[in-house]
Amino acid sequence: MCGIVGYIGNNDTKEVLLNGLEKLEYRGYDSAGIATLNDNGVNLFKVKGRIAALRERVDDTNHATMGIGHTRWATHGAPSEENAHPHQSASGRFTLVHNGVIENFNEIKAEYLSDVTLASETDTEIIVQLIEVLNEQYNDVLEAFRESVALLKGSYAIALIDRNDQETIYVAKNKSPLLVGLGDNFNVVASDSMATLKETDQYLEINDKEIVIVKRDNVKIQDLNGVAITREPFTAEIDATDIEKGTYPHFMLKEIDEQPFVMRNIIQEYQDEQDEIKLDPSVRQAMLDSDRVYIIAAGTSYHAGLVGKQFIEKLANVPVEVHIASEFSYNMPLLSEKPLFVFISQSGETADSRSVLVKIKELGHPALTITNVPGSTLSREANYTLHLHAGPEIAVASTKAYTAQIAVLAILAVDTAKAKGIDLDFDPLQELGIVASAMEALTDQKETFEQMARDYFATSRNAFFIGRGMDYFVVQEAALKLKEISYIQAEGFAGGELKHGTIALIEEGTPVVAISTQENVNYSIRGNVQEVEARGANSCVVSLEGLNQENDSFILPHVHELLTPLVSVVPMQLLAYYAALHRECDVDKPRNLAKSVTVE
Ligand code: F6R
Repeated sequence: MCGIVGYIGNNDTKEVLLNGLEKLEYRGYDSAGIATLNDNGVNLFKVKGRIAALRERVDDTNHATMGIGHTRWATHGAPSEENAHPHQSASGRFTLVHNGVIENFNEIKAEYLSDVTLASETDTEIIVQLIEVLNEQYNDVLEAFRESVALLKGSYAIALIDRNDQETIYVAKNKSPLLVGLGDNFNVVASDSMATLKETDQYLEINDKEIVIVKRDNVKIQDLNGVAITREPFTAEIDATDIEKGTYPHFMLKEIDEQPFVMRNIIQEYQDEQDEIKLDPSVRQAMLDSDRVYIIAAGTSYHAGLVGKQFIEKLANVPVEVHIASEFSYNMPLLSEKPLFVFISQSGETADSRSVLVKIKELGHPALTITNVPGSTLSREANYTLHLHAGPEIAVASTKAYTAQIAVLAILAVDTAKAKGIDLDFDPLQELGIVASAMEALTDQKETFEQMARDYFATSRNAFFIGRGMDYFVVQEAALKLKEISYIQAEGFAGGELKHGTIALIEEGTPVVAISTQENVNYSIRGNVQEVEARGANSCVVSLEGLNQENDSFILPHVHELLTPLVSVVPMQLLAYYAALHRECDVDKPRNLAKSVTVE
């Protein structure tokens, strides 16, 4: 959600900025812009729409060696050229990009900017106008920047350039992600190292409420009082080829196909030399010390949490509650005496989850983050982290991160069970190997799912997914996948719940997909299928080998009953993918959505 790129060096800045913004497209955006600075002044280009349009707009003749760029996902003010970043101060001296939400922008406007006519509807513009007003007072840009940042309430990652200074980019952050990348006679600023991996793999983490002064050949970090802070850089461990589509038409398809490798990767990362589970002992101890686990997550990660609850309760005998982060944040339930909070987040940047993390830290409770991005905010701020090892996920619709989350939760549950002395007849590492092969068998049958997507979703306005037990959690994820990328109104229901209301919506031809992988409810879910068929539904049953019946539409290879979500979700992901493709939707960048949801 929103992305920032900045560059100061000797190369062609607009190319670095545009390439960087392209790499941030996956985060979701609706407008974009860049500003470069040279002897002619600031060259500002903005568009509503895609980076491709921005590329066409950018004047190719104006060489510059520093600048800032931005992709915007609208919060304050509609997506438009006026509201797109960079924003400029009234005199045009200062130019700024911002991610996040300024909560006190009305107060700042009233107190400091009553004489300024704003050119946009954004909260961002008040920052750059404030800097100009305070600079008139102090006649010191750094001081004006620092004072302005100190006045801001809310979340922000900002980068500022001054028309009178071709040697400095001013940077600050609070809650929103931002990194400074280090190079040889150049430096970069980026929301995510993926944007500037081509330039450097050395990055400095920036903490909340720090100010960074980025020059061509050095970077200085200070606190808000101007006290210098030293910090060692880290190496971004992303393979540049991981963030390319290669021969795939879409990242989503590539990431669906990567799932067997991810499973094998997880086995390798979580297995010791004796083929036993290898897990951070402090995480194990935290699980042992807690009397109840509170899983906090959003969207797809929440759906993975629902599956994880089953593992932890059934295998390790620890009670678990799963909460939607944005609900928990404002409506905290009664907590147990020794809670352990487990944050599940692909990006590690989800603002709703972070808001819960901040609150439970104030209460003194321990937190574990399970994430694909170990250096992310949720990872840094929690006491413990478990890494998903899924590789960068670029498509907005989460696929391989979901299955990786479930796999890691299974390992965590079994590790806790063993530490508690519970004897289990279930080796997750071995079973995940079987899952990996099953996933491969599924991704090899793409034509089948392409045809099924055509048969069921080519023209439908809505669709229902039903399941019971474990399958109920997967159908919720199946519905989310379909709706977010194909825009078909889709819902996932507990099979038995249909007749309590929703069955009223079933009419001739309504697509209903049932998943049946659980022996104890196989009979009942098939009863539910008959109920909808009797009302004219165009039904389809996806069942587990061994539980299958005549006329089932697809039979899943057999895997351990607990791990069936890892295989049953693959056809659902592919059905959603092909449905979106048939409907000519933008699969990797669905409308209105962002990959990294950094505002509450
Ligand atoms: C859906 C999807 C979202 C995310 C949600 C949480 O495909 O990707 O529902 O799961 O926004 O994001 P993370 O996992 O990054 O916290």
